[in-house]
Amino acid sequence: MPATATATTNVYFEDQQPATTDSVAEVIAGLQLNQKRVDPKYFYDAHGSQLFEQITQLPEYYPTRTERQILSDNANDIAAHCGQGCVLIEPGSGSSEKIRLLLDTLRPSAYVPLDISAEFLYRSAVKLGREFPWLKIQAICADFADSWQTRTTLPEGQRVIFYPGSTIGNMDPAAAEKFLAGLRQWIGNDGGVLIGVDLHKEEHLLNAAYNDAQGVTAEFNLNILNSMNKLINSNFSDQQFSHRAFYNQTLQRIEMHLVSDHAQTVNVNGNAIAFDKGETLHTENSYKYTLESFTALSEAAGFTIKRSWLDDDALFSVHYLSVNPD
Ligand code: AVJ
Repeated sequence: MPATATATTNVYFEDQQPATTDSVAEVIAGLQLNQKRVDPKYFYDAHGSQLFEQITQLPEYYPTRTERQILSDNANDIAAHCGQGCVLIEPGSGSSEKIRLLLDTLRPSAYVPLDISAEFLYRSAVKLGREFPWLKIQAICADFADSWQTRTTLPEGQRVIFYPGSTIGNMDPAAAEKFLAGLRQWIGNDGGVLIGVDLHKEEHLLNAAYNDAQGVTAEFNLNILNSMNKLINSNFSDQQFSHRAFYNQTLQRIEMHLVSDHAQTVNVNGNAIAFDKGETLHTENSYKYTLESFTALSEAAGFTIKRSWLDDDALFSVHYLSVNPD
């Protein structure tokens, strides 16, 4: 795959070769904290991505199907907010699955998927380009945190950032505010953000969504150990830890942990990491918002919620945010 290539007539691909993070140092730093933790991005090796795909189909896991329903049911109204001919930018676009629900209605002048996995991004963009031959796709392999836009010319038009899946829920509120505030520099004063946010709800529904009867979420959680082993030369055993997920009412988040079944020492690239029996490795937070708390977050980040779309049971929400002029 060339660094820059026109794949098909409507797909343009640009590899900005984002710097790879030092995974070994990052993981070890997390394991040396009092409460051991690991970044949830390590869930998504090939097997983990498959398991997440399975999670999205589980009866207990409502977010994915509910968000898809909201997007299709409200495509016209969403398009009215984004504006005809907008430039649609999707950070961490993956397989660009959800944007397909909006493209025919939205008719953006360009779709700009951004992802750090060059190979996957390239293949996904080409596939999308074949399905939507009229769509101009400008795929950029970059780390969204980097200054990708300064090196790339985007078409004219109102810029809208698409951030579905309640991915923002992985960040704690301070990081989420910083992330949202950072989006303003990419979209200018008349841009917008179309964002999917999971909602606070009865605790038993939240707990069920992360403790499914088939045990797929448990397998997904435990797989982070195998994923780390491959990446950083560690010897975690998924037989020596157990899945734990619960709703933390005070902090309004699901917490996922891996509980050490007994006292054990794990070798992580030459470092001995000791676990007590019952000690946990914190693998993920998934924050849940109320309309009030998400409004407060948006406003703190310099946005106004122009419109919110919810399903009938208020399980999930999609919002169109516009930039507040300074
Ligand atoms: C992809 C981060 C939105 O928090 O619900 C699903 C990941 N973890 N089941 C979520 C996840 C366990 C998911 N996000």
